[in-house]
Amino acid sequence: MKRMLLLSFLLSYQAAASAERGELLYQTHCHACHGPEMHQRNRKIATDWGTLLAQVRRWESNIDLQWSQEEITDVAHYLNQRYYGFPEPGHRQSDHALSPSR
Ligand code: HEC
Repeated sequence: MKRMLLLSFLLSYQAAASAERGELLYQTHCHACHGPEMHQRNRKIATDWGTLLAQVRRWESNIDLQWSQEEITDVAHYLNQRYYGFPEPGHRQSDHALSPSR
């Protein structure tokens, strides 16, 4: 039982850490051109997790950041958690809860 608790703590911690890393990357490299308004407008290009991921990848390669697949996913995860709320394959719904530190 204790082990289960620890495991679920670690898993949710990991999800929060990944979104935090994504946030940092986004603030550093992407925020110059657009803030929240880009991700909240009515006619969005990103319409689900797949297209959001594709947009992050597109911008990442546009400005030649050479991010790893993991970093791209982290940023998409951050944006999804913060603005879009699309279901993410491979993530449990509970991972979408904002971390308690915020
Ligand atoms: C040179 C300016 C610029 C930079 C740098 C930039 N973006 Fe963008 N971004 C735009 C513009 C303009 C649009 C909307 C028009 C378009 O998609 O061509 C956009 C659209 C997007 C969208 C689609 C939003 C939606 O739902 O319609 C995403 C997601 C996005 N950017 C993510 C990123 C990420 C992640 C980075 C950093 C790797 C980044 N952008 C860097 C200018 C920029």
